[in-house]
Amino acid sequence: MDQEQLKHAVAAAAVEYTLTKIDSDSIVGIGTGSTANFFIDLLAEHKEKFQAAVASSEASADRLRGHGIDVIELNSAPEITLYIDGADEANPRLELIKGGGAALTREKIVTAVADEFVCIADESKWVDYLGTFPLPVEVIPMARSHVARELVKLGGDPVWRENVITDNGNQILDVHHLYPVGSTTDLEEKINQITGVVTNGFFACKPADILFLATQQGIVTHHAVD
Ligand code: 5RP
Repeated sequence: MDQEQLKHAVAAAAVEYTLTKIDSDSIVGIGTGSTANFFIDLLAEHKEKFQAAVASSEASADRLRGHGIDVIELNSAPEITLYIDGADEANPRLELIKGGGAALTREKIVTAVADEFVCIADESKWVDYLGTFPLPVEVIPMARSHVARELVKLGGDPVWRENVITDNGNQILDVHHLYPVGSTTDLEEKINQITGVVTNGFFACKPADILFLATQQGIVTHHAVD
């Protein structure tokens, strides 16, 4: 199978899992990216089985509405049954790098609310150690250069993702060569302490609860291990 077929296969597995978790009152959190798009398209076939969706980006919200799925604001959602989203990298602790699609802040907010965070990815995203994929950092525009200098002090090599404005009106720095030494949660917290950072794409303080990984041998289910 090529990568697109793997993404489709893992999205289909995630839909099957979602159907075991939801009822007609459920609000489903839905992420952003090409794997999430496959999930949206397949979940749409079951749109009468849940109440509404919360989306982590305007692009996903538009796609959901295009299928006739009700999309509500997070502030109107008392509870999110589960949140399904892709990743750019995932390690065996189910710590992730996310934000390749510039939606990391809303993604992190929805994971904070969701009862369960289900990550879906193809095998190219599976790594022993995070950091080969450049870490996306969302920054307040006027702070971009300051944040970049601070990230250099941490050993990173930040590159401004020019011509990209996030759904929150901010900018993205992609930080190369920033490998967590020791705890990823420490580095996630340290970067978030830099004034002007909105959030960064490490999802380690709250990793995924479950990862469905599409491989050439089939769908492998990973649970977080310490
Ligand atoms: C968007 C994300 C995506 O989940 C991540 O970039 C993976 O995307 P894809 O499924 O297209 O490979 O974090 O901000």
